Amino acid sequence: MPVWKVCGGNALEGSAVVQGAKNAVLPILAASIVGGGVSCLDNCPKLLDVDASLEILHYLGCSVMQNRGKILIDSGGMSRNHIPHALMMKMRSSVMFMGAILARCGEVRLSAPGGCELGSRPIDLHLKALHELGAEIEESGGEVCCRASKLKGTHINLDFPSVGATENVMLAACAAEGTTVLTNAAREPEIVDLQNFLNAKGAKIHGAGTAEIHITGFSPRSVTEHAVLPDRIAAATYLCAAASAGGDVRLERVVPAHLNTVTDVLRSMGCEVAEGEREVRLRRSGRLNAARPVVTKPYPGFPTDAQALLMSACLKAGGTSVFVENIFENRFRHVSELRRLGADIRVEGRVAMVSGVAKLTGAPVSACDLRGGAALVIAGLAAENVTEVIDTGHVERGYERFAQTLSALGADVQRCEATSDTE
Ligand code: UD1
Repeated sequence: MPVWKVCGGNALEGSAVVQGAKNAVLPILAASIVGGGVSCLDNCPKLLDVDASLEILHYLGCSVMQNRGKILIDSGGMSRNHIPHALMMKMRSSVMFMGAILARCGEVRLSAPGGCELGSRPIDLHLKALHELGAEIEESGGEVCCRASKLKGTHINLDFPSVGATENVMLAACAAEGTTVLTNAAREPEIVDLQNFLNAKGAKIHGAGTAEIHITGFSPRSVTEHAVLPDRIAAATYLCAAASAGGDVRLERVVPAHLNTVTDVLRSMGCEVAEGEREVRLRRSGRLNAARPVVTKPYPGFPTDAQALLMSACLKAGGTSVFVENIFENRFRHVSELRRLGADIRVEGRVAMVSGVAKLTGAPVSACDLRGGAALVIAGLAAENVTEVIDTGHVERGYERFAQTLSALGADVQRCEATSDTE
């Protein structure tokens, strides 16, 4: 079990290259089976969640090769259309294989993803949309089975712009006859990346990035090349780390526009943020001001994934910062751990109020989810003495070379294995 040992007090200085996006590569890996053929992906981060997806692809009968940032998938030998519980449980995003296997095989059986550390995370919107495309859905024994002799394009309106449901519809609709029009679709940049990959594979999709997406068929190509988009949440993590620790950090290989909601708040707190074509630089000296109210919303609103990260950057800011979490019911679990460092945070339902303190002191804390774990490391950068973040593997689900990246910027962060002292 990893433990992140953070010795606070160092300002961050220098440059870092941002990894490829976890939330883009996972649906793209699922999409690699749609229409068969070979997919060559570049800029893939090395993450536990990526390993879990590759394990699923291998189980389904695909051959998979991974070398540094490149992944090659040959889905020609795909021979299975179900995913066992043990593989599904490894990560939430495996639900994306539902639309992809349905498109490829006309039938898919997998165990329902169930709850996770962020709350119940239902898939009713995914199932309703697949049913509207013509799939019969059966749920029994903890498994979901979707079957369709023929999928038919139709108009689907999502009750909420769910990222996962939008992606599942795009995947399944590639195999549908006629046009599918998806309205109230999620608009996240990762949806645009999925559209770009599927179109490179031979799909005809347009509208991703807006609330209305049209999918009008598929003419398979034998080989597809695609470079995964940069990870806006990893970039937000390093920006919040620099805001928390102070210093001058330049992030390379980012899309600055994808970070606007985060950089706007950081600017309002007193950070200097400058954007280049593919880079962002953040400088912070002196005490930060409290953030203006942060309300998580579907893109282009403030990302739920950055809520905990920004909260950590606010712990010593002057005044009170208010956070409203609208996406997930259970996304303040980092708060009790931040309090152990001396943070002053009050939670009432979906609202957290952070009153800036003069000092944080390192303590042993536990990572409760991926972004919550990263947030604890960020808080540790601004704390006196040592903060030990005991983690059951959450952070490595989403960050490549996390400790090395922070250390290269001057932070004193080490990844250790838990000993009996820390357990
Ligand atoms: C969410 C985030 C996404 C982030 C990802 C990883 C939003 C809108 N989505 O995507 O930006 O990258 O987590 O942390 O911020 N829901 C249902 N029924 C469904 C599907 C979803 O009720 O069938 C609800 C969820 O419980 C949740 C909300 O809709 O409250 C957002 O879900 P969704 O966008 O699907 O989540 P992810 O795809 O996991």
